[in-house]
Amino acid sequence: MSKTNLAVLGTQWGDEGKGKIVDMLTPRFSAVARYQGGHNAGHTVYVKGRKFVLHLVPSGILHPGVTCIIGNGVVVDPKALFTEIDELAGMGIAVDGRLLISEKAHAILPYHRELDMLSEARRGERKIGTTSRGIGPAYEDKIARRGIRIGDLLGDRATLEQAVRDNVDARNRVIEDSTLAWREVFDQLIADGERMRPWVGDVSLFLAQAIQAGKGVLFEGAQATLLDIDHGTYPFVTSSNASVGGVCTGLGVAPRAIEGVLGVAKAYTTRVGEGPLPTELSGPLAERLRESGNEYGASTGRPRRCGWFDAVVVRYSARINGLDALALTKLDVLDGLPEVRICTGYRTSGGDLSEFPASVRTLMDAEPIYETLPGWSTPTQGATRMEQLPPEARRYIERLEEVSGVPCVMVSTGSERDETIVRWDSAVAGRLLGDA
Ligand code: IMP
Repeated sequence: MSKTNLAVLGTQWGDEGKGKIVDMLTPRFSAVARYQGGHNAGHTVYVKGRKFVLHLVPSGILHPGVTCIIGNGVVVDPKALFTEIDELAGMGIAVDGRLLISEKAHAILPYHRELDMLSEARRGERKIGTTSRGIGPAYEDKIARRGIRIGDLLGDRATLEQAVRDNVDARNRVIEDSTLAWREVFDQLIADGERMRPWVGDVSLFLAQAIQAGKGVLFEGAQATLLDIDHGTYPFVTSSNASVGGVCTGLGVAPRAIEGVLGVAKAYTTRVGEGPLPTELSGPLAERLRESGNEYGASTGRPRRCGWFDAVVVRYSARINGLDALALTKLDVLDGLPEVRICTGYRTSGGDLSEFPASVRTLMDAEPIYETLPGWSTPTQGATRMEQLPPEARRYIERLEEVSGVPCVMVSTGSERDETIVRWDSAVAGRLLGDA
């Protein structure tokens, strides 16, 4: 078992394949803890040909004996949670005794989804392209200090009643053409709380004790650095801190508890929703990546926008998160391309940039500066050792490491768990992941 507490997070715009990486590493840890986001995330995991899509419950749930934690930084839609738990039960996976939800996590209320869609409709052409799961409105209520926390569903009923009345009043002021009765929401929340009661507890304390006892904890990011509310391409972002800072605030753990940070990067780039994507491709090449990579949203089914690997983005993620290493995913999707490109800088009206611009405006006008490398025709799919890769694929990885400034310790070459290369020969792999 790993003695290192490791954060695993996305370095691009999400959908890097974190689910598979977390799932593979989980047996090395005693607990997997989600620190932000909600059921906007979609982690697809394939185990022996069976497909699991997890949204809210950490993918560690597929491994018996691992505690799965939903931190205070997460927003929880009780209905979505129950659906997922019921589906897991249908597949023979019981969560009881293995799921811990922070009493400080905020609830997504039944009408947050409605508010999300309304806000998008009002923005019109300037829409964010959200997942319409009510994530943004739930975080809005949290920051406005009127949010309802999971612990509130289990506490004093009069206090909850007042909070629900205030929230429903606020909602009815925004959605003028229909009036929602507070009682309906209140009764639902009480029932939801009762079902959740056995799973609710003090996440910060649990983690402090686990860490103190030297049991490794994996901190699981959702979405990704470029969707971070502060460091992403604002306003085209999600409403939480997906980057490493979110681990401390979203779980109540100290910074020194994070002993390693593994960034997950796709061998190319994708984005779902609106906002800048400098290396975006169109036409047959974009189509080719989308089809080979099955680039359709796990939560919404939306086609993902596809582009070349952007090393400026990953270098920026390395800076924001202090990445120790990269896990490169979906290398096999590039198999058969005559050439592959890496963006190493941006051309802008103000001159060439080698670092990610702080201004989204600048990014919107940025033209990628590419390096072109030869592609490979020998398939990489299923490779488990670097030596099995064609020399061009190895060169591509080497170049990504050079321009991103981060060593690559894992390479995913297919959707199954064992279709992965782990570079146990590197010192950083041993430090982050434990023994081979
Ligand atoms: P929201 O999180 O639903 O508010 O959506 C805000 C932005 O984040 C939109 O561009 C979404 O497409 C994007 N987003 C949210 N969750 C994910 C995810 O799990 N993968 C990729 N993009 C996501």
